[in-house]
Amino acid sequence: MPQTVKLTEFTQTQTAAPWMTLPATQQPHWHHHPDYDLIEAELSGALPLVAHSEIREAKRALGLAALGEARVLQLGDCAESFSDVDPVTTSGKVRNIGRIASRLAERTGQQVARFGRMAGQYAKPRSSNFETIDGVDLPSFRGELVNSFEPDVFARRHDPERMLQAYDASASVIREVRAHWSGSVEELSGGPWVAHEALVLDYENALIRTDERTGEQFLTSTHFPWIGERTRQLENAHVSMFSAIANPIGVKVGPTADPETVVRLCQLLDPRHTPGRLTLIVRMGREDIHVALAPIVRAVQRAGHPVVWISDPMHGNTVTAESGRKTRHVTHIIEEATAFRHILETEGAHAAGLHLEVAATDVTECVGGSVPDENALSARYETLCDPRLNPEQALGVIDSVF
Ligand code: PEP
Ligand code: CO
Repeated sequence: MPQTVKLTEFTQTQTAAPWMTLPATQQPHWHHHPDYDLIEAELSGALPLVAHSEIREAKRALGLAALGEARVLQLGDCAESFSDVDPVTTSGKVRNIGRIASRLAERTGQQVARFGRMAGQYAKPRSSNFETIDGVDLPSFRGELVNSFEPDVFARRHDPERMLQAYDASASVIREVRAHWSGSVEELSGGPWVAHEALVLDYENALIRTDERTGEQFLTSTHFPWIGERTRQLENAHVSMFSAIANPIGVKVGPTADPETVVRLCQLLDPRHTPGRLTLIVRMGREDIHVALAPIVRAVQRAGHPVVWISDPMHGNTVTAESGRKTRHVTHIIEEATAFRHILETEGAHAAGLHLEVAATDVTECVGGSVPDENALSARYETLCDPRLNPEQALGVIDSVF
């Protein structure tokens, strides 16, 4: 039986949130929309998508990983699509996560806490406001929470109605994910829970709720939100909002992060030194990681923050194929993840696991295994954003790294 979820235990947050007045990058331009206030009000009154009991369970599982007693996997699409909201597609994704997690459990002999990049992964940061498609300059696609993938100037307008669609899509996906919970096998420690980059402040802030019993604030759009590499500025809104919520949280740590900044992030986001509260998701690239990671690990350890260390060996290794498509080479992904593990272990820390963009179907978006070269990418290149591993490639990464 699926677990019963009590969603009435939260009350709505009443006071204006201080972080909403702080600077933030990568935000949609839609406040002039005539229905904006109505949409925001509807979202602020909506039921939580996840329960605080579930969030606490996820945090406990991450706590074990922080102490070296479990592993962690975060897996899923770079960007989800509203058109993927059906039970068959979601079940396929959940089963794929289970399969990859079982392999990691087998190879490490440890329990694996599983997280899907799903049920809310609808907003994307972009390096440029514009992209050129078939010779036409268009506003960049920013995830279906913000605009349409369709390469058309009107479809690319930022539309706040999409926040409601994202909420509904997330609710449907979470319902289906929960239906799989009772079937967990022993080496998988509960879940899978859901995770996404909490990028669009209007959406995320409207879904913060207070736990009446404890007074804690929870982000109820997901169990595990993370802050992306482009929005982790210390003085900006995302860090401030994350410091106020009680969820387990992640922060991407890229090649330009310095030890002082990462320690400051730890102080702001994990002031009580709680195992499982903060996960650092390292995404430096296969070359830079050799220089940049060790000093950060030492500084965080010296500061006494019991963080979970996981590797995202994909976002620092994106290349452009001759066709113009973005791709990644499985060999590079393995190289970075292996370096990550060795560096962590050399420093006496636990390399808890991986954060991978992976599809549940046999896509051909990354080079390696069944995709011998860049010419083979065109067969099933289906991603809305970054190139994902297919299931066999992902299992190959697990086998090579652990
Ligand atoms: C992502 O995870 O899809 C992403 C945009 O990552 P990053 O913030 O690390 O660039
Ligand atoms: Co991505």
